[in-house]
Amino acid sequence: MSSRFWPIHEDVAEILLTQEQIAVKVAELGKQISQDYEGKDLGLICILKGASIFAADLVRHIELPISLDFMAISSYGMGTKTSGVVRILKDLDHPIQGRHILVVEDIVDTGLTLKYLLESLRSRQPASLHVCTLLDKPSRRRVEIEPDYNGFHIPDKFVVGYGLDFDERYRNLPYIGVLKPEVYQRELAGK
Ligand code: IMP
Ligand code: MG
Repeated sequence: MSSRFWPIHEDVAEILLTQEQIAVKVAELGKQISQDYEGKDLGLICILKGASIFAADLVRHIELPISLDFMAISSYGMGTKTSGVVRILKDLDHPIQGRHILVVEDIVDTGLTLKYLLESLRSRQPASLHVCTLLDKPSRRRVEIEPDYNGFHIPDKFVVGYGLDFDERYRNLPYIGVLKPEVYQRELAGK
């Protein structure tokens, strides 16, 4: 797992989902979404930054005339535990009233971020509002929320890669990996 050119691999304890597994799943999700939304005015909302890579791949498997907008929210401070504080850092560029909206998320963990986000979006009166997440950690849920489309259920481990970060790093790993606990223990101790 080590590479002279890419030492971040060394911080990964285990590969949970390979690049190939992710690619197959993303194609399946895109196909399903294409079927479900046929004939509808579909707008995707990518939640920055974690879902950026997933959304970029997903949209290329959706064979419909969609639009793509972005929203940035912060739920985590530094570290790996949710702070419970959710802020909109960047809002949508376009209104969603009367449109079919699909929120694209990287991971649903406690569900707090998504709950807040959905409440905010629902108040803007879309025709429908659904959620597509790549990863789901159901064992950690603190509010009742079920994504409509989900790539993979994963165990309660802190994962990085394919858009997911720890302290803004590791997003560019092409797979989903479990970060070695000593990495975040080391980082948190040093701050
Ligand atoms: P929630 O509010 O606890 O559901 O947290 C959702 C957000 O926390 C996600 O959009 C991620 O940005 C982040 N997050 C949760 N679990 C992980 C993880 O295992 N690795 C990286 N980020 C995570
Ligand atoms: Mg994050």
